[in-house]
Amino acid sequence: MGLQPETRRQFMNQGTERLKADGPGVARAAELLRAGRLVAFPTETVYGLGADATNGKAVAAVYEAKGRPTFNPLIVHVSSIEKARKIGDIPKAGEAFLDGGWPEGLTVVVPLRAGASIASLVTAGLPSVGLRVPALAIAKELLHAVGRPVAAPSANPSGLISPTTADHVLRGLDGRIAAVLDGGATTAGLESTIIGFSGDAPVVLREGAFEVPDSMPRQTAAKQTNEVQAPGQMTSHYAPKGTVRTNVVAPRPGEWHLGFGDVQGNVSLSPNGDLAEAAARLFACLHEADARGAMRIAVAPIPDTGLGRAINDRLARAAAPR
Ligand code: TXA
Ligand code: MG
Repeated sequence: MGLQPETRRQFMNQGTERLKADGPGVARAAELLRAGRLVAFPTETVYGLGADATNGKAVAAVYEAKGRPTFNPLIVHVSSIEKARKIGDIPKAGEAFLDGGWPEGLTVVVPLRAGASIASLVTAGLPSVGLRVPALAIAKELLHAVGRPVAAPSANPSGLISPTTADHVLRGLDGRIAAVLDGGATTAGLESTIIGFSGDAPVVLREGAFEVPDSMPRQTAAKQTNEVQAPGQMTSHYAPKGTVRTNVVAPRPGEWHLGFGDVQGNVSLSPNGDLAEAAARLFACLHEADARGAMRIAVAPIPDTGLGRAINDRLARAAAPR
């Protein structure tokens, strides 16, 4: 997509400010967002590339900065459950997840409320909206200071690995966004779990950081590719520069091996076989592989249960033909 030259100048090609995660840093980040600029910020999952969700031009600039080829709907981030309710109509089955507050790493896709002032580009024109209240304090402070909903995809160039540190963000987007709020490494390390509702039953649209029972229904793969209803991830996604081979106990010569549990590897996702640790380290390890110029990456088997399902989902996409 093309923006007018003056819009392009306004939103892009300026030095990216690295802001500290303190009072003045948050205030500056909020000021930039309110002015329609793009600011990357940490959440407990990954860094998001934020834009004022009520400002269509700012949202368009997100697609341009990421080089996202299509208008995938973006997740709307707000500072409280009350604010979320003003934007989306959370069904009963959704409320069940929110009893003890909004859980870490959860996004829900719910009907968009009539009159909610969300730019239509955010939902890609869909009648639904993805909503999330981040649990990370600095993210909440930022959203509170902005005082408007913030649309944010992961803060990486389209198709590449999601960022779990401010350095990762800058590696991909330096000069293309106004600022990054540096809150250190994210704790969960994988994107949020996305849950939609079919009638009154929850359906997992994307595996992620919020653990759901293995028995909860998953959106079928066929539906995921044919309908925008699903997180529109293309099959190849989260891709490092090197090729990826999964389920590898014994690497081939020249492969850079990512271990897990008893499989040691060149570096391990989790020597103790802890899935939460592996999830938190996955993208950082893939970024490290990129940084080392590894052209062939092999990954140890990861049990396909709990958070392991989200890890395997990301690995399958990283390994998909490009
Ligand atoms: O952890 C995360 O979820 C991060 C942080 C920044 O919140 N965000 C993230 O955004 O991963 P993104 O754009 O990379 O992935 C969001 C996914 C997209 O695949 C999109 O299709 C789906 O959410 N999505 C958003 N709104 C939707 C809607 N109304 N209906 C269906 N899918 C939706
Ligand atoms: Mg993404």
